[in-house]
Amino acid sequence: MTHIQAGIWGIGAAIPERILTNQELETMVETSDAWIRSRTGIQERRIAAREHAASDLALEAAERALEDAAVSAGELDMIIVATITPDMAFPATACIVQDRLGASKASAFDLSAGCSGFVYALDVGANLVATGRARILVIGVDLLSRVTDYSDRSTCVLFGDGAAAAVLGPVGEGYGVVAAELGADGSGGDFLKLPAGGSRRPASHDTVKAGEHYLHMAGNEVFKFAVRIMGDSTTRVLKKAGLSPEAIRWFVPHQANIRIINASAQRLGIPDEKLYVNVQRYGNTSAASIGLALAELSDAGHLSEGDYVLIVGFGAGLTWGSMVIRWGRGES
Ligand code: ACO
Repeated sequence: MTHIQAGIWGIGAAIPERILTNQELETMVETSDAWIRSRTGIQERRIAAREHAASDLALEAAERALEDAAVSAGELDMIIVATITPDMAFPATACIVQDRLGASKASAFDLSAGCSGFVYALDVGANLVATGRARILVIGVDLLSRVTDYSDRSTCVLFGDGAAAAVLGPVGEGYGVVAAELGADGSGGDFLKLPAGGSRRPASHDTVKAGEHYLHMAGNEVFKFAVRIMGDSTTRVLKKAGLSPEAIRWFVPHQANIRIINASAQRLGIPDEKLYVNVQRYGNTSAASIGLALAELSDAGHLSEGDYVLIVGFGAGLTWGSMVIRWGRGES
């Protein structure tokens, strides 16, 4: 079978209008703007309107990505939605998006890999493009505000809502996904979880009373894991790609915490001008985070044909994923 190289044809993002500032959080929990800025780098985050769910933001991002790629919904062969906050347990949010886009030819499914979801979905999608499934829409979307306990200061300052989408298709030799590295360590699953609402702890009066429908996190453990894995995984993926850190034009790590971002950039020796940071404006948008950063870079005209982009994410699972992409379509 001939190998088909897969790359990103178009990208788009969607963020809610409502801004939740550190000052507003100061009125909700015992915290301060100074603490949040110094410990996380976050200044504000976006919160989805009450009437909106994951599919609403996903649809908006998808329409932008399709336009950017000059692909119509009817041409899509598959839709993959990476999310841990789907509209509901089933049907899959990908199926809701498929219907609303009118992507009648596309198969559709959701993928759960926490904040690594966008990288996971890109890798799955790219591998399917390589086997001949021509056009795949990948979406990373999360509304973590829906599962955040706004009386818990150790989590509620961190998260925001957003969506990002990419259209994948065949690209020229040497372009698109150059190398990827995905991994999981399920033994750390307890460090970041939503305990109730699944088959182990179905939602009940008791689970709601105990706050088990909220995200629970051992922040310190996740922090240590993140710093270690982002350095290890990016080192491995660069080796696979046969590239040195100097060859990278943009390093786009998952936007969870500025201290984690800076530690991973330092480990690779990536200078500030090659590091993309928007965590101050959006907080941690989970599966949307990396795509949202790529969409901003693309909209600002900062991604040129042939640029090497290094992305890396970590999240619930625990999971991680990194990828080197050579931007542009080349001659496909
Ligand atoms: N305001 C003021 N004080 C706070 C706040 C707050 N918002 N939150 C915690 N504190 C306090 C703690 O109670 C603690 O006080 P104590 O010493 O009296 O007990 C003190 O600050 C220090 O707490 P630490 O947890 O040690 O603070 P740390 O510097 O580690 O920062 C943080 C905590 C920001 C949560 C950090 O651990 C972190 O970023 N972890 C990674 C989280 C992450 O990225 N998760 C996303 C995973 S992605 C996904 O799949 C969803």
